[in-house]
Amino acid sequence: MTTQRHGRFSPVQWLRNAPAADYRRFLTAAIRHPGTVGAATPTSNAVANTVARVVPPHGDPVVVELGPGTGSLSVGIRDRLPAAGRHVGIELDESMVRHLRLRLPEMETVHGDARELRSTLPRLGIDNADVIVSSIPWSLLSDEEQRDLLRQCCRNLAPGGAFTAMTYLPMRHSPGGRRFRNHLETSFGEVVTQTTWRSVPPMLHYTCRHPIE
Ligand SMILES: C[S@@+](CC[C@H](N)C(=O)[O-])C[C@H]1O[C@@H](n2cnc3c(N)ncnc32)[C@H](O)[C@@H]1O
Repeated sequence: MTTQRHGRFSPVQWLRNAPAADYRRFLTAAIRHPGTVGAATPTSNAVANTVARVVPPHGDPVVVELGPGTGSLSVGIRDRLPAAGRHVGIELDESMVRHLRLRLPEMETVHGDARELRSTLPRLGIDNADVIVSSIPWSLLSDEEQRDLLRQCCRNLAPGGAFTAMTYLPMRHSPGGRRFRNHLETSFGEVVTQTTWRSVPPMLHYTCRHPIE
Protein backbone atom coordinates (compact mmCIF):
# COMPACT_ATOMS: atom_id res chain seq x y z
CA MET A 1 0.00 0.00 0.00
CA THR A 2 1.24 3.51 -0.81
CA THR A 3 0.33 6.35 1.50
CA GLN A 4 0.61 10.08 0.90
CA ARG A 5 1.13 13.02 3.21
CA HIS A 6 1.49 16.53 1.74
CA GLY A 7 2.29 19.22 4.31
CA ARG A 8 -0.04 19.93 7.22
CA PHE A 9 -3.69 19.17 6.81
CA SER A 10 -6.34 20.98 8.79
CA PRO A 11 -9.87 19.49 8.73
CA VAL A 12 -11.28 22.86 9.81
CA GLN A 13 -9.57 24.66 6.89
CA TRP A 14 -10.76 21.97 4.53
CA LEU A 15 -14.37 22.45 5.64
CA ARG A 16 -14.03 26.26 5.35
CA ASN A 17 -12.71 26.06 1.77
CA ALA A 18 -15.45 23.77 0.49
CA PRO A 19 -18.15 25.41 -1.62
CA ALA A 20 -21.18 25.83 0.64
CA ALA A 21 -23.73 25.26 -2.12
CA ASP A 22 -22.19 21.88 -2.96
CA TYR A 23 -22.41 20.93 0.69
CA ARG A 24 -26.08 21.86 0.91
CA ARG A 25 -26.88 19.98 -2.29
CA PHE A 26 -24.95 16.93 -1.18
CA LEU A 27 -26.40 16.88 2.31
CA THR A 28 -29.95 17.20 0.97
CA ALA A 29 -29.39 14.23 -1.35
CA ALA A 30 -27.72 12.25 1.45
CA ILE A 31 -30.69 12.81 3.79
CA ARG A 32 -33.19 11.84 1.08
CA HIS A 33 -31.26 8.81 -0.20
CA PRO A 34 -28.71 7.70 2.44
CA GLY A 35 -28.43 4.21 0.93
CA THR A 36 -27.30 5.42 -2.50
CA VAL A 37 -25.37 8.61 -1.66
CA GLY A 38 -23.41 6.86 1.10
CA ALA A 39 -21.59 9.99 2.36
CA ALA A 40 -22.42 13.27 4.08
CA THR A 41 -20.07 15.61 2.20
CA PRO A 42 -18.63 15.93 -1.33
CA THR A 43 -15.22 14.42 -2.01
CA SER A 44 -12.19 16.60 -1.16
CA ASN A 45 -9.86 18.18 -3.74
CA ALA A 46 -7.03 15.97 -2.49
CA VAL A 47 -9.09 12.88 -3.33
CA ALA A 48 -9.99 14.35 -6.72
CA ASN A 49 -6.30 14.97 -7.50
CA THR A 50 -5.42 11.36 -6.66
CA VAL A 51 -8.24 10.00 -8.82
CA ALA A 52 -7.44 12.26 -11.80
CA ARG A 53 -3.97 10.71 -12.09
CA VAL A 54 -5.49 7.56 -13.55
CA VAL A 55 -6.72 9.53 -16.61
CA PRO A 56 -4.31 9.24 -19.58
CA PRO A 57 -3.19 12.78 -20.48
CA HIS A 58 -2.72 11.95 -24.20
CA GLY A 59 -4.76 10.49 -27.04
CA ASP A 60 -8.53 10.15 -27.02
CA PRO A 61 -9.41 8.21 -23.86
CA VAL A 62 -12.97 7.47 -22.84
CA VAL A 63 -13.55 8.04 -19.10
CA VAL A 64 -16.78 6.79 -17.54
CA GLU A 65 -17.62 8.07 -14.07
CA LEU A 66 -20.15 6.18 -11.96
CA GLY A 67 -21.98 8.36 -9.40
CA PRO A 68 -20.31 11.75 -10.06
CA GLY A 69 -22.54 13.42 -7.42
CA THR A 70 -21.76 17.14 -7.16
CA GLY A 71 -18.87 16.73 -9.64
CA SER A 72 -15.89 17.20 -7.34
CA LEU A 73 -14.00 14.33 -9.00
CA SER A 74 -15.35 15.26 -12.44
CA VAL A 75 -13.58 18.63 -12.37
CA GLY A 76 -10.20 16.94 -11.85
CA ILE A 77 -10.95 14.44 -14.63
CA ARG A 78 -12.04 17.21 -17.00
CA ASP A 79 -8.91 19.25 -16.30
CA ARG A 80 -6.63 16.32 -17.12
CA LEU A 81 -8.57 14.84 -20.05
CA PRO A 82 -7.05 15.58 -23.50
CA ALA A 83 -9.26 17.59 -25.89
CA ALA A 84 -10.02 14.48 -27.98
CA GLY A 85 -11.12 12.50 -24.91
CA ARG A 86 -14.66 11.72 -23.83
CA HIS A 87 -16.07 12.02 -20.30
CA VAL A 88 -19.37 10.35 -19.44
CA GLY A 89 -20.99 10.58 -16.00
CA ILE A 90 -23.80 8.20 -14.96
CA GLU A 91 -25.73 9.57 -11.99
CA LEU A 92 -28.85 8.20 -10.29
CA ASP A 93 -29.99 11.32 -8.42
CA GLU A 94 -32.02 13.72 -10.54
CA SER A 95 -31.05 16.89 -8.65
CA MET A 96 -27.35 16.00 -8.97
CA VAL A 97 -27.89 15.42 -12.71
CA ARG A 98 -29.37 18.91 -13.15
CA HIS A 99 -26.49 20.41 -11.19
CA LEU A 100 -23.83 18.46 -13.15
CA ARG A 101 -25.27 19.54 -16.49
CA LEU A 102 -24.94 23.19 -15.43
CA ARG A 103 -21.57 22.89 -13.67
CA LEU A 104 -19.84 20.61 -16.16
CA PRO A 105 -21.35 21.00 -19.62
CA GLU A 106 -18.27 19.26 -21.11
CA MET A 107 -19.21 16.01 -19.36
CA GLU A 108 -21.92 13.88 -20.97
CA THR A 109 -24.18 13.43 -17.95
CA VAL A 110 -26.56 10.50 -18.15
CA HIS A 111 -29.43 10.25 -15.69
CA GLY A 112 -29.30 6.52 -15.03
CA ASP A 113 -28.17 3.60 -12.94
CA ALA A 114 -24.55 2.45 -13.01
CA ARG A 115 -25.90 -1.10 -12.55
CA GLU A 116 -27.14 -0.83 -16.14
CA LEU A 117 -23.71 -0.04 -17.56
CA ARG A 118 -23.86 -2.87 -20.11
CA SER A 119 -26.88 -1.31 -21.83
CA THR A 120 -26.00 2.36 -21.24
CA LEU A 121 -22.60 2.38 -22.97
CA PRO A 122 -23.77 0.93 -26.33
CA ARG A 123 -26.55 3.56 -26.38
CA LEU A 124 -23.82 6.21 -26.22
CA GLY A 125 -21.85 4.49 -28.99
CA ILE A 126 -19.15 3.34 -26.54
CA ASP A 127 -17.77 -0.23 -26.71
CA ASN A 128 -15.13 0.11 -24.03
CA ALA A 129 -13.94 2.68 -21.52
CA ASP A 130 -10.24 3.37 -20.98
CA VAL A 131 -10.98 4.38 -17.40
CA ILE A 132 -13.95 3.68 -15.13
CA VAL A 133 -13.99 5.93 -12.06
CA SER A 134 -16.48 4.97 -9.41
CA SER A 135 -17.55 6.82 -6.29
CA ILE A 136 -20.78 4.96 -5.68
CA PRO A 137 -21.01 3.46 -2.15
CA TRP A 138 -19.89 -0.08 -2.99
CA SER A 139 -19.89 -1.28 0.60
CA LEU A 140 -23.66 -0.63 0.79
CA LEU A 141 -24.40 -2.84 -2.25
CA SER A 142 -25.48 -6.44 -1.79
CA ASP A 143 -23.10 -9.26 -2.65
CA GLU A 144 -24.92 -9.96 -5.93
CA GLU A 145 -25.00 -6.25 -6.89
CA GLN A 146 -21.26 -5.92 -6.24
CA ARG A 147 -20.48 -9.01 -8.33
CA ASP A 148 -22.75 -8.01 -11.19
CA LEU A 149 -21.56 -4.41 -11.45
CA LEU A 150 -17.90 -5.42 -11.20
CA ARG A 151 -18.48 -7.98 -13.96
CA GLN A 152 -19.96 -5.23 -16.14
CA CYS A 153 -17.02 -2.91 -15.40
CA CYS A 154 -14.52 -5.66 -16.31
CA ARG A 155 -16.31 -6.44 -19.57
CA ASN A 156 -16.47 -2.79 -20.57
CA LEU A 157 -12.81 -1.92 -19.92
CA ALA A 158 -10.56 -1.43 -22.95
CA PRO A 159 -7.33 -3.48 -23.04
CA GLY A 160 -4.89 -1.80 -20.64
CA GLY A 161 -7.75 0.13 -19.06
CA ALA A 162 -8.12 0.98 -15.38
CA PHE A 163 -10.99 0.72 -12.93
CA THR A 164 -10.84 2.87 -9.83
CA ALA A 165 -13.10 2.94 -6.80
CA MET A 166 -12.87 4.44 -3.34
CA THR A 167 -14.17 3.92 0.14
CA TYR A 168 -13.78 5.73 3.43
CA LEU A 169 -10.79 4.12 5.13
CA PRO A 170 -12.77 2.85 8.19
CA MET A 171 -15.38 1.27 5.87
CA ARG A 172 -12.83 -1.24 4.56
CA HIS A 173 -13.47 -3.27 7.70
CA SER A 174 -17.26 -3.33 7.30
CA PRO A 175 -18.78 -6.57 5.93
CA GLY A 176 -19.64 -4.85 2.61
CA GLY A 177 -16.17 -3.28 2.44
CA ARG A 178 -14.40 -6.61 2.99
CA ARG A 179 -16.64 -8.33 0.45
CA PHE A 180 -15.89 -5.62 -2.11
CA ARG A 181 -12.14 -5.99 -1.60
CA ASN A 182 -12.43 -9.77 -2.07
CA HIS A 183 -14.43 -9.32 -5.28
CA LEU A 184 -11.80 -6.87 -6.59
CA GLU A 185 -9.04 -9.42 -5.91
CA THR A 186 -10.88 -12.13 -7.84
CA SER A 187 -11.93 -9.80 -10.69
CA PHE A 188 -8.59 -8.13 -11.48
CA GLY A 189 -5.02 -9.31 -11.89
CA GLU A 190 -3.73 -6.11 -10.29
CA VAL A 191 -5.26 -4.21 -7.37
CA VAL A 192 -3.24 -1.25 -6.05
CA THR A 193 -4.34 0.64 -2.94
CA GLN A 194 -3.51 4.17 -1.94
CA THR A 195 -4.74 6.33 0.94
CA THR A 196 -5.53 10.03 0.74
CA TRP A 197 -5.10 11.36 4.27
CA ARG A 198 -6.11 14.94 3.39
CA SER A 199 -9.77 14.03 3.56
CA VAL A 200 -12.29 13.62 6.40
CA PRO A 201 -12.38 10.69 6.91
CA PRO A 202 -9.29 9.53 5.00
CA MET A 203 -10.08 7.86 1.69
CA LEU A 204 -8.87 4.49 0.45
CA HIS A 205 -8.49 4.22 -3.34
CA TYR A 206 -8.41 0.99 -5.32
CA THR A 207 -6.90 1.13 -8.81
CA CYS A 208 -7.38 -2.12 -10.68
CA ARG A 209 -6.13 -3.39 -14.05
CA HIS A 210 -6.12 -6.63 -16.06
CA PRO A 211 -9.63 -8.00 -15.63
CA ILE A 212 -9.66 -11.78 -15.10
CA GLU A 213 -12.06 -13.70 -17.32
C1 LIG B 1 -20.44 9.37 -2.39
S1 LIG B 1 -21.49 10.16 -3.52
C2 LIG B 1 -20.42 10.84 -4.78
C3 LIG B 1 -19.45 11.79 -4.30
C4 LIG B 1 -18.90 12.64 -5.40
N1 LIG B 1 -17.54 12.26 -5.69
C5 LIG B 1 -19.00 14.09 -4.93
O1 LIG B 1 -18.04 14.61 -4.40
O2 LIG B 1 -20.06 14.66 -5.04
C6 LIG B 1 -22.18 8.85 -4.41
C7 LIG B 1 -22.97 9.27 -5.63
O3 LIG B 1 -23.28 8.09 -6.37
C8 LIG B 1 -24.63 8.18 -6.80
N2 LIG B 1 -25.07 6.79 -7.00
C9 LIG B 1 -25.28 5.84 -6.04
N3 LIG B 1 -25.65 4.69 -6.60
C10 LIG B 1 -25.67 4.91 -7.94
C11 LIG B 1 -25.97 4.09 -9.05
N4 LIG B 1 -26.35 2.81 -8.90
N5 LIG B 1 -25.88 4.62 -10.29
C12 LIG B 1 -25.50 5.92 -10.46
N6 LIG B 1 -25.21 6.75 -9.44
C13 LIG B 1 -25.29 6.24 -8.20
C14 LIG B 1 -25.34 8.92 -5.70
O4 LIG B 1 -26.54 9.51 -6.16
C15 LIG B 1 -24.29 9.96 -5.31
O5 LIG B 1 -24.39 11.13 -6.08
